[in-house]
Amino acid sequence: MCGIIGFVGNESACSFLLSGLEKLEYRGYDSAGVAIHDGKKINILKAKGKLAELGKKIEAKNLIGNVGIGHMRWATHGKVSEENSHPQSSLNNKIALVHNGIIENYLELKNEFDKNIFVSDTDTEVIAHLIYKYYDWTGILDNFIDAVYFVLKKLKGSYALAIMCEDFKDKIFAVKKDSPLVIGIGENKNFVASDISAFIKYTNEVCYLNDNELAVLDEKNINIFDENKNVLEKKVFSVDKEVNNLGKGNYDSFMLKEIFEQPKVIKNFLIDNSENFLDEINLDEKILDEVERIYLIGCGTAYYACLMGEKILSKLNLFVSAQPASEFRYSDLVLNKKSLVIVVSQSGETADSLAALRIAKKNGAKILSIVNVRESSIARESDFVININAGPEISVASTKAFSLMLSAFYILSCCLYKYFKIISHNEFLDLKNDLKEIPELVEKVLKQHEKIKSVAEKYLLSKNIFYLGRNLDYVIALEGALKLKEIAYLNAQAYPSGELKHGPIALIDESSLIVGIVTQKNIFDKTLGNLEECKARDGKIFVITQYENENSKDAADDIFILPECNQIFIPLLANICLQLFAYYIAKNLGRDIDKPKNLAKSVTVE
Ligand code: F6R
Repeated sequence: MCGIIGFVGNESACSFLLSGLEKLEYRGYDSAGVAIHDGKKINILKAKGKLAELGKKIEAKNLIGNVGIGHMRWATHGKVSEENSHPQSSLNNKIALVHNGIIENYLELKNEFDKNIFVSDTDTEVIAHLIYKYYDWTGILDNFIDAVYFVLKKLKGSYALAIMCEDFKDKIFAVKKDSPLVIGIGENKNFVASDISAFIKYTNEVCYLNDNELAVLDEKNINIFDENKNVLEKKVFSVDKEVNNLGKGNYDSFMLKEIFEQPKVIKNFLIDNSENFLDEINLDEKILDEVERIYLIGCGTAYYACLMGEKILSKLNLFVSAQPASEFRYSDLVLNKKSLVIVVSQSGETADSLAALRIAKKNGAKILSIVNVRESSIARESDFVININAGPEISVASTKAFSLMLSAFYILSCCLYKYFKIISHNEFLDLKNDLKEIPELVEKVLKQHEKIKSVAEKYLLSKNIFYLGRNLDYVIALEGALKLKEIAYLNAQAYPSGELKHGPIALIDESSLIVGIVTQKNIFDKTLGNLEECKARDGKIFVITQYENENSKDAADDIFILPECNQIFIPLLANICLQLFAYYIAKNLGRDIDKPKNLAKSVTVE
């Protein structure tokens, strides 16, 4: 999703802005632009398509100046075009700004102006015109800050803004609400960005802006104000440079690299969190004894992790419900101080998940988050945090984060089963031992990647692809189908296997592929029966199971046998197989695997 970078220093801004934008490319975008102050005026260049197009324009124009802002846009309001790309500006580029988020009342705000002044269809441009209108053009910094705050009060929606004004040739301004912004503190140079990776090459000292805080950056200073213009003392964090500045290594994509990293990151996570897990995350008796309802909230893949959490936590004698964050925030669920809301998010910045968290908090619920980015907004606003520590996930399609989200739910449920006396101490120890085996078992699945590759190559031309499974396997069916849609652009649907004959079976013919996930012993025959029904209608069947017997072999055109594993945990292994399956199909179809079309890594708008 849109990315922001701002630079101010004693060197030419262009190269810093371009290198920052390159690092943000993984978020997904369709156009990019920069604004540079040349000491007299602000110059803006924008280009549709890949960043290289903008690079060519910058080179041709030889933009000079040490202060600038850059943006990559993922279209929301208005089609993909140069006019709609950012920076957006007021008349004569006196004010230029880049924006992440959505201004909900932009049409109403536009009524303050003659319609002819607008050159774009964006919700952003009006902010530039408003600042232009309400700033008195005296060159006094205080007055400019007043004007910005005055305009912000008029805005409804979410924003992260980096702003430049012709009057302040050595400064950039940054302010946010419900959309992340981080400041990078360098030597004779400072940065602002939507994501640390944009400037981590140059500095790992950072501070985070909170909502409605406004930062004024120049080459030497960073001053941060609250709404009443009080100067704030902000905590400075040192982030891990290595971890935030990774390459693809010997892999052809970040996705493949991240798939193969899974044994290591799961192992680290399990080692770090094996002993007194509930104590470590401070989920103490007082809270657990009070809890009546557990909600699990996330979006996309993180939501599917929640569904798995719901299924395994449902053994507790409590109300447990997984909800997509975008639904949760608009539903009338019972929510009070006896509710525990578990918010799951790789980035920790997903707009719907963050909004849902805030609603839950406002209603008195306790918040436990499962996140990958320790310093993210969701982590910072939670009462308790499980950090899955997967390292940066660059590929837009989430892989290792999902496995770690499941691992987090596995540990959490084992501990809660024990706490609520669903299992004995010995059973708890057995489960923990089984958990420890997961990394090695994942490794075993990965070693068979050639086998999965050859199955994938057989089914590149399939139409109507179905992923079927029951109970825990159904969750993996959903995630497997999502991965295929995302990176291969094939229309894959997931169904609980028993649902197929209530309608969708009408679509099955010789061009259909049915991927059956059959890991649960008690429903093995039932699901196989459903696969046989598809076979009888000429569908091709790919079975993923740990049970190789006459029945499964008979039902399958292709079969992948998973290593023996505890029933609760084995769906994670089936999912590794489906990650590779989607990857090899996408690769064979020549897709842009790490940056699939229309998608964004961090969805910071509703
Ligand atoms: C799927 C995918 C998305 C994300 C979703 C939530 O591969 O990446 O569906 O899972 O946008 O993102 P986070 O986990 O960052 O909240």
